Amino acid sequence: MVFLARPEGFELPRRSGTPFHHAYMEASMTNTQKRRLGVLTSGGDAPGLNAVIRAVVKMGNGLGYEVLGIQQGYEGLLGDTDYRVLTGADVRGLLPRGGTILRTTNKGHFSGKHVEGAKHDPYSEALENIQKLGLNGLITIGGEGTQGIALELVRMGAPIIGVPKTIDNDLPGTDRTFGFDTALQVATDAIDRLHTTAASHNRVMVLEVMGRHAGWIALHSGIAGGADVILIPEIPFDIQLVADKIMEREKYGSNFSIIVAAEGAMPKGGTAFYMAPGRLGGVGNSVTEQLAQMTGKDCRCVVLGHLQRGGTPTPADRLLATRYGAAAVTALNDGITGEMVALRAQDIITVPIESVIGHLKTVRPHNDLIRTAHGLGVSFGD
Ligand code: F6P
Repeated sequence: MVFLARPEGFELPRRSGTPFHHAYMEASMTNTQKRRLGVLTSGGDAPGLNAVIRAVVKMGNGLGYEVLGIQQGYEGLLGDTDYRVLTGADVRGLLPRGGTILRTTNKGHFSGKHVEGAKHDPYSEALENIQKLGLNGLITIGGEGTQGIALELVRMGAPIIGVPKTIDNDLPGTDRTFGFDTALQVATDAIDRLHTTAASHNRVMVLEVMGRHAGWIALHSGIAGGADVILIPEIPFDIQLVADKIMEREKYGSNFSIIVAAEGAMPKGGTAFYMAPGRLGGVGNSVTEQLAQMTGKDCRCVVLGHLQRGGTPTPADRLLATRYGAAAVTALNDGITGEMVALRAQDIITVPIESVIGHLKTVRPHNDLIRTAHGLGVSFGD
């Protein structure tokens, strides 16, 4: 068998090995005849979640594991538990399907940290249920919040491998999270479409895309779609410079402009825009209104929103999700725990979960993409 998580000559780091973990693994082996793996999806959905689940089931079954799909994220590990056994038949036809067949919850009861000795501690309850279910390993598919919860459980002794997911691509430790490529495809398609209508009406079109703390979607789609202005959280913008860019284009005969703004973009000296507490949104409309006044041009705003998260994953996301799912099972089967599978150049490796928590992978303001875009005349409003 080819070990997907181990490129030739590369030894995966072995980070399990706490005495508790081994004792736990042996205890759960005696609890059940069949070796069992659990898999759950947590946090916001992303295209490719089902492809990971499919790979986990196929790979897991192939290695002799029964696979339990824990439903509704970590919530399915509470109370009487909410799970179903997943077989090959359950994952048939899943590759092109968006969303998650296991459904998902955003943190739910796990919004705080584990508190030793607390009366109603969801972490202790989840750990107890992981043991009761006889899970030899649990695969947690999600972003930073999901892996943070996983880390708490790992520290308590749960055997977990994380799988990195987010359309924002802002999880550290990995070159790519699955879901990003699909979001990029949707955003770039939107820019292409906005180009033709903007040009026909001599308008300024502002496209607001997702990207809470990191501007990867805006930056990649903006360059791929030929935007004139790209606004990202990492580079606070000066609206006057954005207006100047539009007027400069007018001067040289381009009567329309395309602006891509990440939802977390903010003006210099200002803060990000929120439509409700904890819910970003509004930068697109604000920029649009200001530019209409400053340039006198007809300006329109399109907020792409959850269209970026729904629907069928691109082939690249299906492939990455499949590699991650298979590698997660292989890693657990090799006794590795407390790690997250990750893409590094052309290989799938694992990295300690604790190394990806507490910080995000943001766009470096002088990286080559920014310099390339600058060189092509794109304005970042800076
Ligand atoms: O998946 C990350 C993300 O897409 C962010 O960019 C965005 O702010 C957030 O999810 C919105 O998610 P929801 O509407 O589900 O809270």
